[in-house]
Amino acid sequence: MKDLPETVHPLNNNRLPRHVAIIMDGNGRWAQQRGLLRIKGHVAGVESVRTVVRLARKLGISYLTLFAFSEENWQRPSMEIRALMALLRRYLHRELPEMQENQIALRAIGNLKQLPEAVQRDLAGTIAATAGGETQMVLTLALSYGGRSEIVQAVQTLAQDILAGRLKPEEIDTALFARYLYTADMPDPDLMIRTSGEYRLSNFLLWQSAYTELYVTDTLWPDFREDDFHQALEAYRRRDRRFGLTQEQIEALEASNSRH
Ligand code: FPP
Repeated sequence: MKDLPETVHPLNNNRLPRHVAIIMDGNGRWAQQRGLLRIKGHVAGVESVRTVVRLARKLGISYLTLFAFSEENWQRPSMEIRALMALLRRYLHRELPEMQENQIALRAIGNLKQLPEAVQRDLAGTIAATAGGETQMVLTLALSYGGRSEIVQAVQTLAQDILAGRLKPEEIDTALFARYLYTADMPDPDLMIRTSGEYRLSNFLLWQSAYTELYVTDTLWPDFREDDFHQALEAYRRRDRRFGLTQEQIEALEASNSRH
C-alpha cells in the first residue's frame, strides 16, 4: 500500500464509488430532436441534475462532480451562454434550501473569475451557505473548467513557490502536485459517466481520471434519470479495478484489510 500513489484505492473494489464525475452531454441534440431551441435542452438538463444530486445523496455517494460549463463553451452563441448562466443562478437559488437540509456542500472548480460577476456572487453565496457543519456530500460544479488549464495554473503556482524559495524542485511528486489542482482536497473520481454516446474525456479532470472507470451511455443528458444512474453504478460494481496490480496482489490487500 505504501508504494501506491495517494490516488489509488485498491481496497475500494466493488463498492459504491466514493466520487462520481459526470460529463452531461446531449442537451442540444435532445432539443433539436424535438424541434426546440437548444436552450430548452439545458432547461430539461437541470431536471436531470436535480435527480442525480438527490439520488447520489440518498445512496451515500460522498462526492459528485458535474461538468456544467467548459472553457470551450465560451465559444457558443452569446444567447446560449446567457441562458446557461441564468439557469445556473436559478438553480443555485432554488436548490439552496434542499442542499442545506440534506447537508450537501457546494463547491465550484474552474476559471471562476471568467464567470459573470452575478454568477460569481451567487456561487460564493451558496458555497458559504452550505459550508461548515456536517457534510454528507460535496457537490462540485465545474464551471469555465478545462483540465489542461487547471494543470497549467498548478504549474504556475508551483513555479512561483519555487522562485520564492518555499519549495525545492526535488520535493515535487504526484501527491504534492495534486495539491496545486482545484481538486486538492477531494479524492480522485472512481467513476466517470458520459452521456450521449461520445467516447471522449473532453478536457475534464485529466489528471484526476488516471484510474477512473469510464461509463458511456447513449442516453442524452435530459433523459438521464434514476434508472440510468443505477445502471452506471451497477456497471461500476462489476468492474475489476486493479490499478496496475495483479489480481493476487489485490486479493492479498483485501485479505489484509479485512484483518484490520
Ligand atoms: C452539453 O450539452 C451540456 C452543456 C454544455 C451544459 C450542461 C448544463 C446543464 C445540464 C444545465 C445547467 C447546469 C446546472 C448545474 C444547473 P450540449 O449542448 O453540448 O449538447 P449537444 O452535444 O447535443 O449539442
